[in-house]
Order: sequence, then C-alpha cells, then structure tokens
Amino acid sequence: MGALRPFVFINVAATVDGKIDTVERRGAAISSDVDRARVDALRASADAVMVGGRTLLGEDPRLTIRSAHLRADRRARGLPENPAKVGVVSTSSLQPDARFLTHGPARIVLFVPTSASEHDMGALRARGVEIYAHGAPRVDLVAAMQTLSRIGIQRVLVEGGAALNFELLRLGLVDEVQLYIAPLIFGGSDAPTLAGGAGLTRDAAITLTRLSVDVLDDGGVLLRYAVRGNRL
Ligand SMILES: NC(=O)c1ccc[n+]([C@@H]2O[C@H](COP(=O)([O-])OP(=O)(O)OC[C@H]3O[C@@H](n4cnc5c(N)ncnc54)[C@H](OP(=O)(O)O)[C@@H]3O)[C@@H](O)[C@H]2O)c1
Repeated sequence: MGALRPFVFINVAATVDGKIDTVERRGAAISSDVDRARVDALRASADAVMVGGRTLLGEDPRLTIRSAHLRADRRARGLPENPAKVGVVSTSSLQPDARFLTHGPARIVLFVPTSASEHDMGALRARGVEIYAHGAPRVDLVAAMQTLSRIGIQRVLVEGGAALNFELLRLGLVDEVQLYIAPLIFGGSDAPTLAGGAGLTRDAAITLTRLSVDVLDDGGVLLRYAVRGNRL
C-alpha cells in the first residue's frame, strides 16, 4: 500500500494471560500511571487515534491528550491540540453527550458502512463530525486508511478493541504493535485479547519482529514489535 495509507501502530494494555479486558467487558483498568503517561505521549505523537465501535460505545473514551505540557508542545509545533479522533462503527448509536463527541477540542472522523442510516449521519454531520461511508456490511478498512491519508492524517494510533485490531492486522494495515503487559491475570475464555475476530490458521499467522523490550518499575513489561512484510 506504501504511501496510500498512514503509518499505523496499535497500542494495547494486556494482562499476563493476554486479556485486554475482563469477561465483564467494561473497560477494566490495566495500565499503571507510568504506562498511562506513555500512552499519552503516543497520542501526542499521532495525527489520529482510532477505536472500534464496541470500544467507542462501551467505554466512551475521551481519546484526548491528558498532559497540558504535551498539548502545549503540539500547539507550539503548529499542530492541533489533540489528534483527530477516529471511530469505526457498524451502527451509529452514539449518544449526543458521548465523550468521543464532546471532549476536545479535536477533529472527529467516523467511518461507517454504506448501509448506515442517513438520518443518524445528518445529526452527527451537523455537529461537525466528518463521516465517510466505505463498504458493507462492515467498514472497508483499506478504503478508510486511504481516506485518512487523503485528508492529511499520516500517523494513526489504534487503541483497540480486539475486532478492529485483528481486521487491521489481517489486512496488512499495521506497521507496529506496542504491548504493555501488566502483572495481572483476568482469565475467562470470553475475555477479549489483542486480536479477536475469526482468527487465522498457523500458515497464515502474522509474523512480528521484536524492536524492544522494556522492564518497568511497576512490575510490567513493554514490548514493541514491527509487523513483518509492512513498511518498517
Ligand atoms: N486494554 C486495552 O488496551 C483495550 C483497548 C481498547 C479496547 N479494549 C477492550 O476491547 C473490547 C472491545 O473490543 P471488541 O473486539 O469487542 O470491539 P472493537 O474492536 O472495539 O469494535 C469493533 C466494532 O467495529 C465495527 N466494525 C465495523 N467495521 C469493521 C471492520 N471492518 N473490522 C472490524 N470491526 C468493524 C464492529 O462491527 P460489527 O458489529 O460488525 O462487529 C464493531 O462494532 C472491550 O472490552 C474494551 O474494553 C481494551
């Protein structure tokens, strides 16, 4: 895909047993304060932060930069205070007071399938949300990445969830994966992991190249991997 799409990196916080949430799926806290500060810096380094619909609707994330210093640094570099917030949704049941919409200032971009209701889209557009319909019944993620590139977004931080991570990896749309492993175990066969979806056979497994391993004072470990076969 080369220049046709942005640089895409996934960041995930997982437990030692690989879970990114409990079976309750209520967005359980996994990161430490140190890791939250690292993620804040990752956001500050990105043009956009992307999440999947169930993360968006279930967790109502802010996706903005917490640190006033990092926001000021972006402004000094002529960048918007916060990266754009990007949602990939199958249904547009966003509440008008969702923090995704209200917490900012930030550009807001929504990718929906072509089957999405025009009525719902109109209300969101009136609030300044940029909406692109690509594919059906699910969003065409290749087209979505091409659109992000076309509208000036060159670095995309993906913050889950499992379904979106898997589809992006399967389609070869990810350059790097960063994984914070917390000293916790959640268990639960139905608890989500870094990559969900339909899964791959061993022959089709996505292979990674380790870039770095950091041992953190909070008992956690930070792993960085390049996705092989992509641009890194
Ligand atoms: N610890 C962490 O770092 C972290 C970060 C983020 C999220 N999480 C956790 O992850 C869980 C949510 O993950 P999830 O797997 O349930 O959902 P998800 O990946 O957040 O959202 C997937 C949504 O995107 C929609 N979608 C539309 N087009 C798509 C496409 N082409 N490919 C993939 N999805 C597409 C899906 O629609 P359909 O209805 O068609 O499937 C679904 O609604 C939550 O428990 C959350 O707390 C953890």
